[in-house]
Amino acid sequence: MKITVVGAGHVGATTAQRLVQHQLGEEVVLIDILEGIPQGKALDMYESSPVLGSDTKLIGTNDYKDTAGSHITVITAGQPRTPGMSRDDLLMANNDIVGGVTEQVMAHSPDTILIVVSNPLDVMCSVAHAKSGLPPNKVIGMAGILDSTRFRSFIALELNVSVRDVQALVLGGHGDSMVPLVRYTTVAGIPISDLIDAKRIEEIVERTRKGGIEIVNYLKTGSAYYAPAAGVAEMVESILKNQRRLLPCSVLLNGEFGVEGIFMGVPCILGENGLEKIIELKITDDEKAALQKSAEHVKGVLAKLNL
Ligand code: NAI
Ligand code: 2OP
Repeated sequence: MKITVVGAGHVGATTAQRLVQHQLGEEVVLIDILEGIPQGKALDMYESSPVLGSDTKLIGTNDYKDTAGSHITVITAGQPRTPGMSRDDLLMANNDIVGGVTEQVMAHSPDTILIVVSNPLDVMCSVAHAKSGLPPNKVIGMAGILDSTRFRSFIALELNVSVRDVQALVLGGHGDSMVPLVRYTTVAGIPISDLIDAKRIEEIVERTRKGGIEIVNYLKTGSAYYAPAAGVAEMVESILKNQRRLLPCSVLLNGEFGVEGIFMGVPCILGENGLEKIIELKITDDEKAALQKSAEHVKGVLAKLNL
């Protein structure tokens, strides 16, 4: 099994490191347009393998020939936002980058499964889908895991409990209109509404919605990458090992949750074929309205492109 990570920046390099550390794949290829950067980072990471006890091979390159036959390709190429920017401000620059990258990836790995990370995430999934010609089960965006893991972390902090016991699902587009499903958020099966008062839950939901910009405002030169890379690795593992994990991912919707024709975050089962199934939860009218609002936002951004 071969995995390519496009973009050797913060998210791409950290993702490659996680893949190697957890021995996900026999070979990981890190590729970037910057000469020397993927080679240097990959060699440095590979030199940690004896200490880690990992036999996953890792190479850095600027040549797509080295990516040939990739089973999974993670696209992290593109600009990150800096303070004052929204993810949507990256649209035009990252449309060109993700479109170009997808064409080059497909020329060498026509059967690959694409995991898209570049922002604005849901729209970049549409770009990769359109450029790749892949069936919808093979184009999957990473964002819901990140938004959910932020929500889970904040709840664990609030209650001083193990993060392992907190389960949560954040759906919708990867933006301020994302939809944390409070009703489905539990600590070892106990609904959080039994443990935290409603006003505090709303504050935690709001912090989750703004979780990306909170990190950007600290870093100033870019955006989050440790938690995003962890999210990508979880998706790769589920696909590679056919684990059939149920994870929130951005996928092409065909009427599910009343949404059609766009990528947006919904609960998905990920297995050897990529997206195996979308789980259509029963949601309340309020939750449906929130998802619709999020979908309208994604559609508005998508409409600015000529796809
Ligand atoms: P970064 O600036 O550290 O790395 C981006 C890399 O992409 C750079 O090394 C750059 O040389 C490379 N690149 C640019 N054009 C390329 C091309 N045509 N081919 C190959 N490589 C190219 O940025 P970072 O922090 O790694 O973020 C990458 C993207 O991921 C951003 O768009 C960011 O907004 C997004 N992101 C999305 C998340 C999500 O939840 N979906 C989470 C975190 C970041
Ligand atoms: C985040 O939410 C950058 O979209 C990314 O941190």
